[in-house]
Amino acid sequence: MHEKLERLRSLDRERNLVARIGAVLGWDQETFMPPAGVAERAEQLAMIEGLAHEKGTLPEIGELLAALGSTDANPPGDPSLPPMDRAYLRVVRRGYSRAVKIPKALVEELARAGSLAQAAWAEARQKSDFKAFAPHLSKMLELRLKVAACIDPAKKPYDVFLDDFEPGSTEESIAKVFGELRTELVALLGKIRSRPQVDDALIHRHCPEAAQVALSEWVLDELAFPRDRARLDKSAHPFTTTLGADDVRITSRYHEDFFVSSLFSAMHECGHALYELGMAPAPEYARTSLADSASFGVHESQSRMWENVVGRSEAFWKSRWPKLQATLGDTLRGAGVEDFVRAINKVEPSLIRVEADEVTYGLHIILRFEIESALVSGRLKVEDVPAAWNAKCRELLGVEPANDAEGCLQDVHWSFGGFGYFPSYSLGNLYAAQFWEAMRKDIPGLDASVSTKAGLEAILAWLRRNIHSKAATLLPDELVKSVTGEELSPRHFVKYLREKYGRVYGF
Ligand code: CO
Repeated sequence: MHEKLERLRSLDRERNLVARIGAVLGWDQETFMPPAGVAERAEQLAMIEGLAHEKGTLPEIGELLAALGSTDANPPGDPSLPPMDRAYLRVVRRGYSRAVKIPKALVEELARAGSLAQAAWAEARQKSDFKAFAPHLSKMLELRLKVAACIDPAKKPYDVFLDDFEPGSTEESIAKVFGELRTELVALLGKIRSRPQVDDALIHRHCPEAAQVALSEWVLDELAFPRDRARLDKSAHPFTTTLGADDVRITSRYHEDFFVSSLFSAMHECGHALYELGMAPAPEYARTSLADSASFGVHESQSRMWENVVGRSEAFWKSRWPKLQATLGDTLRGAGVEDFVRAINKVEPSLIRVEADEVTYGLHIILRFEIESALVSGRLKVEDVPAAWNAKCRELLGVEPANDAEGCLQDVHWSFGGFGYFPSYSLGNLYAAQFWEAMRKDIPGLDASVSTKAGLEAILAWLRRNIHSKAATLLPDELVKSVTGEELSPRHFVKYLREKYGRVYGF
């Protein structure tokens, strides 16, 4: 059995190797590639992706899984195997079974239709013309429903999609969590809107790109971003990508009239990078499918914890205020740290998700979840999406888009068929708050400890031990239970918001 496992790991490492070669190409395309390189790069990427798919669906993998007792009904395989090996078989079985059930022709059709749909979406968004995008959205929906039927015809298609992002979640379990969250967020937002608004002019003062880069690099050092295993570059949209177990890249972008955008992007992506760099369940599982995240939501908890819970706290900036002022030169001249902390925590309902604050962000996600789950189940028709979007936006946020570009056309996700992706963003906030509460029991004075570098290192060590090193050995619900002793609940996040925004808005 040992030899079979080792053979499985070596095939898996090969697939992983190919995928990461693709990641190098993708990272280069977003950062340094000259624009004319795009056509040949697309061919290079398609070839690498095809090769990775081939490596991941080899019949030998299926034979090894079967020989180790792993089936769809019993993914962890032989009960006499150690828990780590069984966790590994569960992960490989899930990926393999899903991949081999989808016919190659459907995979190719999805890739083709997806790239056409993405191009159509970009143009439709620019012209704010939903009608031009609607046939592509219908096509992507139709193809994704076919995929769901291949994977598990007995399951609700939306639940099949969720499995790609939050294994084990269902439309029902998410609707329950979001239902509670929605009531609380709407109430909190009402309270905030009854108070005088925060003045955030100081974070819109002019700040040259060079000063922002220096600020990001300094803050990355504070968060123990390991320079020998990771680096920061510039791209149109911030992202994190893993090129190797010891090579993670993050990117940021710079707006000279809004410097905190690059600052918080750097902290956010740093959180993703630290998780990626800490996924070490055991030496024999390095560079395998087990050295991966528990879910997209857990990944997002790591970025949001550093960005919001740590990075938007008063304790973090109070001790670092002189350094922040000095790094930015004239930008913050004459300003005080209290005003800065209030400004970075301003709450204001807006139309655009990626610009939303911590309180309204969840409402943007609930809106998308309600629309996409209705769309997938057939309760909502594609042509009715704009009207449904606008009505929900008014209901949840009290604002209404003037056009579809700032409404239902703002996000790229549906154009590549990423139905079921959005909930992970909001779940990330909930996981982060619940993990933070659990951390309190082990780190005395946790909230104040972020004022020193030693304090931040203790937080990272806790995350390494309890979350990062577990990698994909646990499903997200198992991880939450093992770390916090209870199921995922929105109440920790709600408590965190109430306390924080009570301080910012004085109630
Ligand atoms: Co993120």
